[in-house]
Amino acid sequence: MTAAIQVEVPYLHEAFPTAEPASGHISSSSSSSTSSPTASPTSSTSSITDLAFIPTKALLLHSRSGPYELTDSWPRSTPNHGEVLIRNVCIGLNPIDWKSVHYGFGIHHLPWVSGRESSGIVEAVGPGVNRFKTGDRVLAPSTNYRDNRTSSFQEFSIALEANTAHIPEWLTWEDAASIGVAFVAASEALFNSLGLPRPYSQPGPPSASEDWLLIWGGASITGIMAIQLAKIIGLNVATVSSLHNTDYLRSYGADIVLDRHNPEEVVKALQSMDISMALDCVGAQTAEFAARALAENGRLVCLVQRPKFLSSPPKKGLEVLDVLIKRFHEDVQYGQELMELVERLLSERQLRTSRVKVLAGGFEDVETGLEKLRKNEISGEKVIVHVGKSVANNGGRV
Ligand SMILES: NC(=O)c1ccc[n+]([C@@H]2O[C@H](COP(=O)([O-])OP(=O)(O)OC[C@H]3O[C@@H](n4cnc5c(N)ncnc54)[C@H](OP(=O)(O)O)[C@@H]3O)[C@@H](O)[C@H]2O)c1
Repeated sequence: MTAAIQVEVPYLHEAFPTAEPASGHISSSSSSSTSSPTASPTSSTSSITDLAFIPTKALLLHSRSGPYELTDSWPRSTPNHGEVLIRNVCIGLNPIDWKSVHYGFGIHHLPWVSGRESSGIVEAVGPGVNRFKTGDRVLAPSTNYRDNRTSSFQEFSIALEANTAHIPEWLTWEDAASIGVAFVAASEALFNSLGLPRPYSQPGPPSASEDWLLIWGGASITGIMAIQLAKIIGLNVATVSSLHNTDYLRSYGADIVLDRHNPEEVVKALQSMDISMALDCVGAQTAEFAARALAENGRLVCLVQRPKFLSSPPKKGLEVLDVLIKRFHEDVQYGQELMELVERLLSERQLRTSRVKVLAGGFEDVETGLEKLRKNEISGEKVIVHVGKSVANNGGRV
């Protein structure tokens, strides 16, 4: 086996301790001690200063295990050079949002703001910002989890201009909030970890190859995005999900959908197909199934955990790769290229969003949504929360 480079990936801290979760419920406070939204002294982006205190709403953790507290006196940040201030309209919920609290990792200072993506309206731009102006409709994934200003469980978030994308008029706020993290993760897995060509990176139609990509967990939001990106660049896609999602995943381009509840049979069926690349979107056990399904010298990208090879040794020449998601904010040019790519794919209607499950009760609904994710009650859907309790969703503006 060729060992890939070991990297620090926040989402991969999943050697889960067995600690019981806190009984999280949201309490609210209108005059809580809110300190500052700035990152900890260990953060590389702790220089924000609020010249005028403008109180806003935010969902805070004052202890690493919760509960969340809703405050309406959180200071609004001011965008620095190259940053935009976004008034969030909808928030997309991600597994990391419950895992970090439930298992107690990745919370670097208190109070803490979670939330990794949103759609919203540009409220202000910092010096040097060229691509955006006040009033623009945007989406913003945040991979810089150490900088709480960029987190989305608050009324206003800061985003690097390079980590922000325009959204087309026809795209709803809810759909726009569902795209960011999945797009960044799937792009990183396909175009960097596996080194596949990005859409539009070569002239003419995609280099239609006969290669197959196996996606274990195709009904995850990342899986749905990866299916589409793989098809755009001309790959064949085999995917593993619950069979009730078969037609749904075929509608995104999956060529073969196999039953996740019969993994041994799936492995057998796939072994005859000479598949050289796989993406696992679920965990160590399914990563091992995916590894076994690959041909010799295959390459496996692990979004969550690497296989532990408990039931069989790795195949000859297997290369196990990680997803280096933080490259999105650390490499500014790369981040901007991804955002320009998503803008183009959306404007050409080459990408479709997944189904969304909308919770319209404002921040009070965040924990309800996170519980649904934690209990695996969501299948092939993205959970979205309206930041305000009433959002006019006429495909347009609030
Ligand atoms: N490393 C990173 O940077 C990074 C970035 C993003 C996400 N992640 C992680 O990647 C994972 C996926 O995230 P997401 O938001 O895309 O997930 P998600 O949408 O919440 O995933 C839910 C889906 O997982 C599928 N699933 C569960 N167990 C499965 C199994 N044994 N076999 C096949 N499918 C299974 C279910 O499919 P069915 O409904 O068909 O049963 C379900 O629809 C999470 O663990 C997340 O924390 C990591």
